[in-house]
Amino acid sequence: MKDLIRRAAEDLMGAKRAVALTGAGISVESGIPPFRGSGGVWERIDPMEYGHIETFEVNPGRVWRGLIQELKDIIDRASPNDGHRGLARLESMGLLDAVITQNVDGLHQAAGSTDVLEFHGNCAWQRCMDCGEKVKSHDVDVSTLPPRCLCGGVFRPDWVFFGEDIPPMTLQRSQQLAMRCDLMLVVGTSAVVHPAAYMPVIARDTGARIIEINPERTPLTGTISDYLIRGGAGEVMNALIAELEGMK
Ligand code: APR
Repeated sequence: MKDLIRRAAEDLMGAKRAVALTGAGISVESGIPPFRGSGGVWERIDPMEYGHIETFEVNPGRVWRGLIQELKDIIDRASPNDGHRGLARLESMGLLDAVITQNVDGLHQAAGSTDVLEFHGNCAWQRCMDCGEKVKSHDVDVSTLPPRCLCGGVFRPDWVFFGEDIPPMTLQRSQQLAMRCDLMLVVGTSAVVHPAAYMPVIARDTGARIIEINPERTPLTGTISDYLIRGGAGEVMNALIAELEGMK
């Protein structure tokens, strides 16, 4: 791994417009389970039963009991790890412009990253399905599920369910960043959910270097990525920051 860390540090130092794409894997070391692979949420419950807007609309209480409440409690207890802090450090070193994240946990912002595009929304807010009222998740009374707005409408997380569109402005800006970057760090994503998984493809097609950080190979490995640094996000980012600090 040492050679690849050195190579990634040199690539980052040589890049002019680097961005990161992150997935659930970067938050695993913060205690938030991934969706796929060992310990994955979708290994226990069916994503089409609990992660799709149509099943939420049919039975919101079931989705709140089976997915939202647990994920919300875990996220409420979570704090950033060395992976999040490493990306924030890259930004403060002037080596990373933005983070496009598929995560809804807000941990990049909590770690200090200032330009974070929440591709799948976030879990920090709940939105009324009837009147559109937005309330901080912390302030929603979950003693009965599904929680309801004063107007009687059902609250839903401000995240993107399967079957919903990516927020248009976020999608457009993410595509622009992917087209204009000359390096993309792809950290902790299985790269199987689109359109997020197209961002590295767009970046590659416009000449960017693609570096993956993941304990496992993904569909990008050996096809879109220039190389994979196999390891956990925290360990790899710590080594990368140490290498860069030594090059200053
Ligand atoms: N460090 C880095 N990567 C890790 C770590 C770690 N400590 N632990 C696991 N991983 C990797 C796994 O090898 C896997 O490739 O993180 C990835 C997690 O993949 P997923 O659980 O599929 O998460 P993600 O790619 O973000 O899923 C995309 O799917 O269900 C939807 O909306 C949900 O945003 C999510 C989207």
